[in-house]
Amino acid sequence: MQFKTSVLLVLIILSPLNLVPTRGEDSKALSKASLTLPPEDLQWWREARFGMFVHWGVYAIPGRGEWVMWNERIPFREYSKLADRFNPRKFDASRWAAIAKSAGMKYMVVTTKHHDGFCLFDSEVSNFTSTKTAARRDFIAEYVKAARQAGLGVGFYYSPLDWRFPGFFFPDLYRENAEAMKQQTYDQIRELMSRYGKIDILWYDGGEDDWLGFGGIEYRDGKWQSRDTKWPQEKRYSGKPLWEPEKLNGMVRQLQPKIIINDRSGWKGDFSTPEMKVGEMNRERPWETCYTLAGSWGWTPGNPPLSLRESIHLLSKVVCRDGNLLLNVGPDPEGEIEAGQVERLQEIGQWLGKYGECIYKTRGGPFQPTASFGSTYSQERVYLHILDWPENTLILPGIPHKIISSTNLTGKEAQVSQTGGSIKVTVSVQDRQSMITIVKLVLDAPVDVYPSK
Ligand code: GLC
Repeated sequence: MQFKTSVLLVLIILSPLNLVPTRGEDSKALSKASLTLPPEDLQWWREARFGMFVHWGVYAIPGRGEWVMWNERIPFREYSKLADRFNPRKFDASRWAAIAKSAGMKYMVVTTKHHDGFCLFDSEVSNFTSTKTAARRDFIAEYVKAARQAGLGVGFYYSPLDWRFPGFFFPDLYRENAEAMKQQTYDQIRELMSRYGKIDILWYDGGEDDWLGFGGIEYRDGKWQSRDTKWPQEKRYSGKPLWEPEKLNGMVRQLQPKIIINDRSGWKGDFSTPEMKVGEMNRERPWETCYTLAGSWGWTPGNPPLSLRESIHLLSKVVCRDGNLLLNVGPDPEGEIEAGQVERLQEIGQWLGKYGECIYKTRGGPFQPTASFGSTYSQERVYLHILDWPENTLILPGIPHKIISSTNLTGKEAQVSQTGGSIKVTVSVQDRQSMITIVKLVLDAPVDVYPSK
């Protein structure tokens, strides 16, 4: 009898369902190596190249960005009242998805919970959610459905840090409270990873130990401030490690084996996230620049969007350095994206409709990018992205392949000559585009090497 019971127990433990840890129970940490996805699982995302970031929450009501609670030192008791007013009747997730599609974006990443703690989803471990306050809606469920229907990749932004927890600010003093914040992260990540079907991207923000109160806060120069992380180590929070990111992401991998995870949980993740800047040329490590279309992440009324030229240059520069671009919009309290931003996104989409072949499914290279030039390639096709013409002739290093044809995609003609050591490209002024000039080269064989210079 005793024996049979234990056999049964072993069987139960080994059955696939039980591989998924239940809430409150520690998940078995996967080894660090197996946490990282193999390159083929990132391929769809690398080929997609362009996604939409959405910052939205109760902070849209004051309209001074998603950091308003921190920046203006608003006590939670006050801040939480915003949730009683957050009832966006015009919110339509399929409209967001349609706008992303019209911009030529292939995936979306939406804030499920930002640093203020407000959840746009139904969480059993929090009352500060859109399902339990005025709106009484699970916006994340609506978003997932709409994005899927539109054929877009589905991403979740999630902030482990939460300003409502004193343990975030004083981790040494309130260790238990900091642990409670950690538990909330584990519980909510489990909810997000198990209740909405397959999720493609997990985009943490603020899960590093240094972000635990930015190393704690302290009273300095007459006010409470975050500890300066440049200060000597002994002045910083010493109670590491708190988050145990390998354990957290081990659980995620069990629930969503193919999910692509960013680098802001304290573990290096599958890709890096340069913020508000074009990442460096890097063909080894996948990366994604995140950038705001209109100045702030969360809604600030009337912020002018980037010009079309700036937007296309940003996208081109990122892709020519082999990265992705996650371009952010912050919808207003009603859930609408400002008309000026929608218009810009549609213009970007129109440009991509014509010239998308130099962006999608390409890799950055083979030439090293400069401030005014970059290149992308796919198989034997090479695209020269000429952003500006500091000289009348663009001179590129030689390549070990023969150019068999050249076309100016954005104008009538391009003259391309290939001599042993270099490639010369000229385009007459009337055939250049003020936005960007794209010259397509077809080589006699697929690109497989870099020119040395
Ligand atoms: C930062 C900010 C945040 C924003 C994010 C986007 O870490 O804290 O407000 O969500 O970057 O990359």
